[in-house]
Amino acid sequence: MANTLSNQVSFVPRRRFDAVIIGAGGSGMRCSLQLAEAGLNVAVLSKVFPTRSHTVAAQGGIGASLGNMSEDNWYWHMFDTIKGSDYLGDQDAIEFMCKEAPHVVYELEHFGMPFDRNPDGTIYQRPFGGHTANLGEKPVQRACAAADRTGHALLHTLYQRNVRARTQFFVEWMALDLLMNDEGECIGVIALEMETGELLALEAKTTVFATGGAGRIWAASTNAFINTGDGMGMAARAGIPLEDMEFWQFHPTGVAGAGVLITEGVRGEGGILLNSNGERFMERYAPTLKDLAPRDFVSRSMDQEIKEGRGCGPNKDYVLLKLDHLGADKILKKLPSIREIAIKFANVDPIKEPIPVVPTIHYQMGGIPTNVYGQVVVPKGGNPNTIVPGLYAIGECACVSVHGANRLGTNSLLDLVVFGRAAGNHIVAQKLPDQSHRAFNGKSADATLARLARLESSTGGERVQPVANSLRATMQNYCGVFRTSELLSQGVAKVMEIAAQAARVQIDDKSKVFNTARVEALELDNLIETAKATIVSAQARKESRGAHAHRDYAERNDTEWMRHTLWYSEGNRLDYKPVNLKPLTVETFQPKKRTY
Ligand code: FUM
Repeated sequence: MANTLSNQVSFVPRRRFDAVIIGAGGSGMRCSLQLAEAGLNVAVLSKVFPTRSHTVAAQGGIGASLGNMSEDNWYWHMFDTIKGSDYLGDQDAIEFMCKEAPHVVYELEHFGMPFDRNPDGTIYQRPFGGHTANLGEKPVQRACAAADRTGHALLHTLYQRNVRARTQFFVEWMALDLLMNDEGECIGVIALEMETGELLALEAKTTVFATGGAGRIWAASTNAFINTGDGMGMAARAGIPLEDMEFWQFHPTGVAGAGVLITEGVRGEGGILLNSNGERFMERYAPTLKDLAPRDFVSRSMDQEIKEGRGCGPNKDYVLLKLDHLGADKILKKLPSIREIAIKFANVDPIKEPIPVVPTIHYQMGGIPTNVYGQVVVPKGGNPNTIVPGLYAIGECACVSVHGANRLGTNSLLDLVVFGRAAGNHIVAQKLPDQSHRAFNGKSADATLARLARLESSTGGERVQPVANSLRATMQNYCGVFRTSELLSQGVAKVMEIAAQAARVQIDDKSKVFNTARVEALELDNLIETAKATIVSAQARKESRGAHAHRDYAERNDTEWMRHTLWYSEGNRLDYKPVNLKPLTVETFQPKKRTY
């Protein structure tokens, strides 16, 4: 237990694997399954027991054009995803994902995932925001659902398959930093066993980040407490840029005051949003799709209603999600967890009363830049997409980029499974068991050990949680649904001050028990990197696109800003790279004004 780090900084034990995956959510376990089944020696590190990873909280569905309810196809799915991304998504990657979608969903079905069923035995699909038939004509039912617990069903299915395939799990282990050699190749990761405080260098021929998002840089978030941006922090410290971090999705329906997710599936099943006049206001903002417009549209509309005084409750600071008209039977069958959440967190039974909801941070569209095989890519020698040998990133921590400036609901679970599997296949094809490990360089862990030693001996007087809370409040207040130049520049200055405070964090001996304070301090380093990337990138982008709504630059500006942002931790600097507007096999979807 506790407090042994300072004694071991000069000696870190080492273990060798073909592949190490950091994170046991949907993407990590889809990738590990591929590797373990191919006979690779694969270790999966997770801060929590695998089935507690944040994927478990995904509710409404996984998107795939199965066409079980009415006609659908991958081309329509691709169109919706590109339009939803406000044309910032890379069209080759989006084509790849949408084409793969039916295949990966049927594969999950064959793994035993308990999807809801139609009377004819096919997988049940529900409508979701921004999913349409015939290039925007009318809503289509594309979200393959397991009631309102789709992530739970998916994660448990993958865990059981991994147990069968004998994947090795390191449970309650926190990865601290990448091990990189002098050639810029990744040779593994240094990690901390959270219970004992012991360090281990995991040497790997391939290292895969599947660390999820960083929703905990915000005060109000649907994200789990574990979502502290560990992958982004490790990448940033290793000199890898973070892409498009200014784009964060506000999910329209978080429980007011609690932040817990109420699935878009509620509106998919027929739920509607009302303002204090009892008006279904989305009819004004999105006449065709109404409450099922994409999330950036709905969140902005809700914010507008509240700002113009049509919010509900004593402080007029939320709107209402009404679903009682769906009837008790449908709510109990299709949305059982939503009813439970509403009773527990909002003290209302949605069978009888509407749920108070507000837009709440839910998902980061940006992340570690990768290609469609999950290989991490960086600009080098004139090539914006030079591969970093030995390093992959998949899932929410990665930016492929298939979500661009705004993700469509259900494309997150799809992203996990499509790119987890694609990375797995790519790694297997390299025949790692026949290759040797890259040379382990003793210096690789120096920066990490110095960081730990500094933390152990710090007398800076700052405490982790007050610093983390002030970071969250700053991000929420200065980088919210609507942004302005003034707010952003004040926010950048505040985040920099908080980063300086974070460098003075100290942990006392009492709070070292079970290493919780130490782990939280290490997580804070990652929160800071992610918050800096977010707000500095947001300050620079002088347009409105997708989830980045800028009051001083209210229009999208394709001439100057049709490009991906790259933020580097060193020097806190920005660079840009082009959006790939060229799909794999079809014609480019030309950018147009988005209406729904
Ligand atoms: O609303 C939801 O069920 C969330 C789904 C998603 O983020 O894809």
